[in-house]
Amino acid sequence: MSHLHTFIERVNSRTATVGVVGLGYVGLPLALRFAEAGLRVIGFDTDPDKPRQIAAGRSYIRHFPDAEVQAAVDRGLTATGDFSRAGECDALVLCVPTPLDDHREPDLSFIIGTLESLLPQLRAGQLVALESTTYPGTTEEELRPRIESRGFTVGEDVFLVYSPEREDPGNAQYSTRTIPKVLGGSTEACLEAGTALYGAAIDRLVPVSSTRAAEMTKLLENVHRAVNIGLVNELKVVCDRMGIDIYEVIDAAATKPFGFMPFYPGPGLGGHCIPIDPFYLTWKAREYGVDTRFIELAGEINHAMPAWVVGKVEQALAAQGGALAGSRVLVLGIAYKKNVDDIRESPSVEIMQQLHDAGAEVAYCDPLVPAFPPMRRYRFELASEPFEAENLARFDCVVIGTDHDLFDWELLARHARAIVDARGVYRGRNGKVFAA
Ligand SMILES: NC(=O)c1ccc[n+]([C@@H]2O[C@H](COP(=O)([O-])OP(=O)(O)OC[C@H]3O[C@@H](n4cnc5c(N)ncnc54)[C@H](O)[C@@H]3O)[C@@H](O)[C@H]2O)c1
Repeated sequence: MSHLHTFIERVNSRTATVGVVGLGYVGLPLALRFAEAGLRVIGFDTDPDKPRQIAAGRSYIRHFPDAEVQAAVDRGLTATGDFSRAGECDALVLCVPTPLDDHREPDLSFIIGTLESLLPQLRAGQLVALESTTYPGTTEEELRPRIESRGFTVGEDVFLVYSPEREDPGNAQYSTRTIPKVLGGSTEACLEAGTALYGAAIDRLVPVSSTRAAEMTKLLENVHRAVNIGLVNELKVVCDRMGIDIYEVIDAAATKPFGFMPFYPGPGLGGHCIPIDPFYLTWKAREYGVDTRFIELAGEINHAMPAWVVGKVEQALAAQGGALAGSRVLVLGIAYKKNVDDIRESPSVEIMQQLHDAGAEVAYCDPLVPAFPPMRRYRFELASEPFEAENLARFDCVVIGTDHDLFDWELLARHARAIVDARGVYRGRNGKVFAA
C-alpha cells in the first residue's frame, strides 16, 4: 500500500495519532475536537504549564469548560513538551504564533523553530499541516524545502497541507466542528491526505487548489474585517461631528437584504489576528512590487482610535471642569473583545497607557482579567477594581473599552460621574454619556 493509502486507512479506522503542536487558542480546541472525533491526540507545547493543566483535566481558556478537557483526556488526549514523541504521530498540526517583529514585519521564528524541532522525528507516511496565519508562500517556501532537505518527497512519503484556523473565541453559535475549513495541499496527494484527516473532525471542508490560495483566503478574511472596521471607525468620527448616531445608521443599513454587511465601530483593533495578519500580506506584496494601500489606511485609522477615545475622556472631564492630569479614570473591560479573557493587542490597554501618559490616575475593571499581566509594551501594577456602586462613583470618568455581558450597565449609568462609551452600550443616551 502507498503511504497515502496507509495514512487514509489509519485515519478512517481511527488508529491514527494526531500531534497538535502549540496548544493555545487555536491548538487546544482543535486537539479537543480531534479527540472527540475518536483520534488519539498528543499535544505539544514549549510552555510546560499547558501539558500540566491538560493532564489535570483543567482548561486554561475561559470559553472551554474543564469538563471538555477532562472528556478529551478520558478519550486518550495527552500533552507533553517532549518533541521526540512526534515520531508517534501520523499527523503533525502546527498551531504556533505568527506575530510581527519590532519592525512590524512577519516573525516566522515560531513556525520555523517548531518545524526544526520536529524534523528529526519526521518519518515517511506522516502529514504536516500548518494552521498559523501567514503570508502566501510560507508553506511552499519555508516548510517544503526544509522537509525535502531531509530526503523526503512531499506528496509521496510526507504530505504537506495548509489549513487556516477560523476560531472565533466566545462565539457560541459555531464550534470547531461546524466552522467550514479551507484546505490547500502542496500536491493532489497532500490534499487527499489532508481531506481524510480534517474530514474526520470537521463537518465541511473547502478544498482550494494550492497552499498559497489557502493562505491568501485567510488573509482576505482578516483584511476584509480590518478594512471594514477601519471604514466604520472613520464614519463614526464623521457622524460624531455631524451629530448623527452611527449605530442608528448601521442598524438601518443592515435591513438591506443584500450587498451590505454590518461592522461596528470601537476603540481600535485588538486580538492576535486582525491588527497583525494583514501586515503579513503587506510585507509579502512588496516582494512583488505591489502596495497594499487599503490595509495601510485601515491600519492608520484603527490605530488612531485609542487617541480619539482619550480625546472624548478629555471632553467628559472638561464638562465637569476637570482635565486629564490628576483625574481618576477607570477603564472598564480590557480584554480585546467581549466575554473573552485575552488582552493581546487590546486597544483598552493602549487607552490606559495614553491616559497615564497624560497624567491621569488610571485603574481598570475587568473580572475576566483579575490582575494586569506582564506585557511586552505595557506595564501596570494593577488589579481589577470591583464593579460596585461606591467604587464606580469614586472615578471622575469611566471608559467602556469592552462590553462584557457580566457588567451591569444600569448600575454603571446610575453611579458613574461620566461615561465614555466606545462600544455603543448606551446608544442614543447623552447627559453624562459621551459616545466615543
Ligand atoms: N486566536 C485566534 O482566534 C486565532 C484564529 C485564527 C488563527 N489564529 C492563528 O493561529 C496561530 C496561533 O494563534 P493562537 O491564538 O493559538 O496563539 P497562542 O499564543 O494562544 O498559542 C500558541 C501556543 O504555541 C505555543 N508555542 C510557542 N512556540 C512553540 C513551539 N516552538 N513549539 C510548540 N509550541 C509552541 C505557545 O506556548 C502557545 O501555547 C497564529 O498564527 C494566529 O494568527 C489565531
